[in-house]
Amino acid sequence: MRGSWCLNRRTELRFRLLAISTVKSVTVKIKFLLCCCIALTLIVLLFSAASSTFVLWTNQTPSALSRFTDSRKGYSIVMNTWKRYDLLKQSIKHYSYCPRLESVHIVWSEPDPPSDVLLKFLHHAVKSKPKDGGHVKLKFNVHKEDSLNNRFKEIEDLETDAVFSIDDDVIFPCSSVEFAFDVWQSAPDTMVGFVPRVHWVDSSKGAVDKFMYGGWWSVWWTGTYSMVLSKAAFFHKKYLTLYTNEMPTSIREYVTENRNCEDIAMSFLVANATGAPPIWVKGKIFEIGSTGISSLGGHSERRTECVNRFTAAFGSMPLVSTSVKAVDSRNIWFW
Ligand SMILES: *[C@@H]1O[C@H](CO)[C@@H](O)[C@H](O)[C@H]1NC(C)=O
Repeated sequence: MRGSWCLNRRTELRFRLLAISTVKSVTVKIKFLLCCCIALTLIVLLFSAASSTFVLWTNQTPSALSRFTDSRKGYSIVMNTWKRYDLLKQSIKHYSYCPRLESVHIVWSEPDPPSDVLLKFLHHAVKSKPKDGGHVKLKFNVHKEDSLNNRFKEIEDLETDAVFSIDDDVIFPCSSVEFAFDVWQSAPDTMVGFVPRVHWVDSSKGAVDKFMYGGWWSVWWTGTYSMVLSKAAFFHKKYLTLYTNEMPTSIREYVTENRNCEDIAMSFLVANATGAPPIWVKGKIFEIGSTGISSLGGHSERRTECVNRFTAAFGSMPLVSTSVKAVDSRNIWFW
């Protein structure tokens, strides 16, 4: 009796010890695993941060994107430029490496035609990256009149439906451009761009038909936007025809006279045609020029003036607000 009790007691004790040590070792293992996870995450984060700063905008598109190259048409860059040849050279050289770029059209509104030296450099730059069917084509659209409307003039020999409208002083990595192109392909009537802006009803004056224009900080604060600027946006080439032929004359004249707001006008035009908001795409942006007009004083007042004038010309406010943002899910670690 006693012996068996003793045995039972001892077995029980051993089990308890075993249980405690098992619990302990399980806890240790869990802690160890957690540490491993955290360490791994840190390494991955550090590595991705380091590699992304290191590659900068010279990085190439991941090959996964280029499998569409054969089956679908690419896009054309329409670049607005004004007497900043270094910037022009730098950005053309950069974009000629983007896989699905078909052609570059430079909107030239200067009194003098492009110099031979510049032409030679640019033609050489686009030829330095041969593609399957030749190389990126380079064309100049020379205009006599100096107007910001020139950047949306119809281009006769435009071979692609997709237009990537861009200023000469901002550069996006090819991976960002090609991702925006993917987004555009899934919504070809929509304007797809990297630089969002917003408008809202200015209720301070008690009116419902007065609007305010909001810059980057307003978008950041509210997470809402209703325009993407044509300094970096994809749209269908049909909007070039619409801009030239259907845009109210008062708006085109206002743009020429004030040298401003052609991008707002384009946003109005597309919104009026689609009744839908644009799409903001997340992308890395590198400003290579000095600060533009947006940093001059009175900028937002003048933009607000444009929004109100254009609304009057259209008869109502066509812009639609949204909070949707397109991101490349391959570049997100946690979701
Ligand atoms: C705005 O849209 C309406 C309806 O589709 C159209 O009749 C009008 O011509 C458009 N306005 C402009 C300036 O494109």
